[in-house]
Amino acid sequence: MERFKDKIVVITGAGSGIGRSTALRLDSEGATCIIVDINESQLEETLAMMSNSKSSSKVLDISSIEDSKTCFKDIRESYKKLDALINIAGILRFDNSHEVQIEDWNKILNINLTGTFFMCSHALPMLLESKGAIVNVSSTAALGAHAWTAAYSASKGGISAFSKTLAVEYGMKGLNINCVCPASIETPMSTNPIMPKDIDTRLLKKIMPLDGVNRSPDDIASTIAFLASDDAIHINGIDLRVDGGLLT
Ligand SMILES: NC(=O)c1ccc[n+]([C@@H]2O[C@H](COP(=O)([O-])OP(=O)(O)OC[C@H]3O[C@@H](n4cnc5c(N)ncnc54)[C@H](O)[C@@H]3O)[C@@H](O)[C@H]2O)c1
Repeated sequence: MERFKDKIVVITGAGSGIGRSTALRLDSEGATCIIVDINESQLEETLAMMSNSKSSSKVLDISSIEDSKTCFKDIRESYKKLDALINIAGILRFDNSHEVQIEDWNKILNINLTGTFFMCSHALPMLLESKGAIVNVSSTAALGAHAWTAAYSASKGGISAFSKTLAVEYGMKGLNINCVCPASIETPMSTNPIMPKDIDTRLLKKIMPLDGVNRSPDDIASTIAFLASDDAIHINGIDLRVDGGLLT
């Protein structure tokens, strides 16, 4: 499949997990990728796994308005156009909600929500020219109740809500903006999480997969690739759950 031949795609969070799998998936489908992450060494590892010599990497913090602005200015100069933006970068921590520290609340909201917004808003002028696509990675935490994730759930709820705003605002101008809501994907984020002390383990059932099986990030990458491609041309403004039925 060469759905992304001659397409220029930005992928954030590409140094690890779902972001890395998505970069490799799009690379295998012919995309020229600009991969983005705050972690330089991991990002370079991903780039080294990719085959398209026109692809490149950018080390940046998505929560910095200057970093995201410069990113798209550079892309316009170097690549002249942009066909898709895929926002995957994010962070998670677990706390009892009455113990969340304001520094952690702000950090999670700044990276997950404001960072995703900065990337979208700076990419939109180029995406409007190409009639492109945005795929934002939200979470089942935006749709159902997940304990101990007040800041993370608020950030993901925000991503799902503002993505729908973009979808109606720009849909008739030819853009598709959708969210993917994964659960239980085996990545560094989900492996050995640090939980608050003395949790009520009955609540774990609400964030565990129905069949007890964690899935590979490749199983999210395939969905993201679909939504970013012309195969999803008539899909706009959805939250697509990829959760093995967790919220069913
Ligand atoms: N793993 C899951 O089960 C799961 C479930 C639901 C949603 N998600 C979401 O999927 C996305 C990817 O998660 P993952 O599991 O692959 O995690 P991960 O920790 O493996 O990857 C996250 C990547 O984001 C990068 N990043 C963090 N802060 C950044 C910043 N300020 N600027 C640029 N890059 C930054 C990290 O360096 C890392 O490479 C996240 O948005 C996460 O919330 C994951």
